[in-house]
Amino acid sequence: MRIIHLAKAMLIAASATLVTIPATTYANSSAIHSRMATAQPIWAKHGMVASQETLASQIGVDILKQGGNAVDAAVAVGYALAVTLPRAGNVGGGGFMMVYLADKDKTIAIDYREMAPSKAHKDMFLNENGDAVSNLSRFHGLAVGVPGTVMGLNQALNKYGTMSLKQVINPAVKLAKGGIKVTPDLAVSLNGLKKRLMKWPSTAEIFFKPDGSSYKIGEVIKQPELAHTLSLIAKNGIDGFYKGETARKITKAIQQAGGVMTQADFANYKAVERKPVSGTYRGYKVVSMPPPSSGGVHIIEILNILENFPLDVYGHNTAQTIHFMAEAMKYAYADRSKHLGDPDFYDIPVKHLTDKNYAKAIAKKIPFNKATPSAEILPASFAPYESNQTTHFSVVDKWGNAVSNTYTLNFSYGSGLVAKGTGVFLNNEMDDFSVKPGVPNGYGLIGGEANSVQPGKRPLSSMSPTIVFKDGHPVLVTGTPGGSRIITTTLQIILNVIDFKLNIAEATNAPRVHHQWFPDELRVERSLNLDTILLLKKMGYKVKVKSAMGSTQSIEITEKGLFGASDLRKSDGAAIGY
Ligand code: DON
Repeated sequence: MRIIHLAKAMLIAASATLVTIPATTYANSSAIHSRMATAQPIWAKHGMVASQETLASQIGVDILKQGGNAVDAAVAVGYALAVTLPRAGNVGGGGFMMVYLADKDKTIAIDYREMAPSKAHKDMFLNENGDAVSNLSRFHGLAVGVPGTVMGLNQALNKYGTMSLKQVINPAVKLAKGGIKVTPDLAVSLNGLKKRLMKWPSTAEIFFKPDGSSYKIGEVIKQPELAHTLSLIAKNGIDGFYKGETARKITKAIQQAGGVMTQADFANYKAVERKPVSGTYRGYKVVSMPPPSSGGVHIIEILNILENFPLDVYGHNTAQTIHFMAEAMKYAYADRSKHLGDPDFYDIPVKHLTDKNYAKAIAKKIPFNKATPSAEILPASFAPYESNQTTHFSVVDKWGNAVSNTYTLNFSYGSGLVAKGTGVFLNNEMDDFSVKPGVPNGYGLIGGEANSVQPGKRPLSSMSPTIVFKDGHPVLVTGTPGGSRIITTTLQIILNVIDFKLNIAEATNAPRVHHQWFPDELRVERSLNLDTILLLKKMGYKVKVKSAMGSTQSIEITEKGLFGASDLRKSDGAAIGY
């Protein structure tokens, strides 16, 4: 509506003042070139779902309309994405869910991160010379952690939902059975990773044609085996996945691919409810995922550092603002490499890292307009590796409950292996462990003892499902995929809303930057102003213009209703409300 009003206003202005330019041309071209075209949030009164795939968002909204709460809708979206966004939506992976319960005014963090199998050990990804072998932790049976998604979703539904498992899984079963139309995004993604996926016949037979060619846009992919697996879950609950036929088939496939996972590992998997990590920022309360995700701790650490600088005075995405952001990011990622891991195995100084005085001391060390070389913060060096996929969704219902959920297979399609007869893609989350001190994972992140492989341990994550509160009420539900960039991308949504007062669509579409300490480079999106890049280079930054970062799915809760935005960086998403 606002675009139309704007165009109309311009039309009137144009015909009044610029009589030599045909009014319609002026109005049309303004509407096309203006950022307004992409900066309109979706509005809704009662409830909303923002996810990376439109069918899944619609399924979630349908559940809300049927009277389900945010948790019912979130679980339905989680299962639907396993069908419609197979590279990241999953039942063979894991993740984290934040649930805000309005009537109890309480936020719960559900950790359903994958777990290392009982036969995992510290040196399992090293060769005889003690060198890390990335193929083993990424594209091999050993790469797979015990999946947590089904346990996490079902536990959330049992404890905080109102509908039956059947009601929320059925839409996913129908889609898997009836087939999904290949979207441009899915076609590009499958074709792009064809070599990796074709390696596994059980994967190839579902996602490629019998002659080995790729599915084209608009063609239909059916996943009958996944439909069967989902129906077993709908019928038997967690036992339908962690015991019996499915557990047997999955562990067999993993062992045939060289892994060590057993049915007992499956039967022993547990999702854990944890106390969320929380902090304050300029009068807002930020509540996010605690370890074994590093996300919440470091978002709060960076916000605490940035609170010492008047970013609104320096301006949105100016070189000065980005400088302070990048410096704060470096300190946080340096801390991450040393201190973060699974809290059940390692003492993590969460209090210290999220302490305002600690942040103040760091802020004092930051020069006003000069980049600190990463090597001066802590020494390390390595080559980064690129890959992508995880997915986030946010849900708000008419009662004010909210769910912020990020889950993943790690890389796109995880290990690439679909367990024969199940339709389930298996994660390669074991690569998120520090396979050897100083050796980077798939996202260039380094770690040490805190994140070493141990049986039953959960690999450190960056996933940051987050809820921001003002005066005791949730005002922003957000999160994103993006590997190591998850923390900084979520951070920028928060800064864009709080410091720069951007609406949620502008906050989403604004150019992003990222620094992760090592490699010592400031990664920026192509859309960042060139003048800004030049100023940052003058300050000493090695600026790298690279591909788009993240796919945020956010909902703002305001007195005027819900405003949502699904990141345009991934084309298939949608914020849908009612
Ligand atoms: O848990 C983590 O931090 C990673 N496994 C997430 C991977 C990811 O976000 C890939 N997507 N873009």
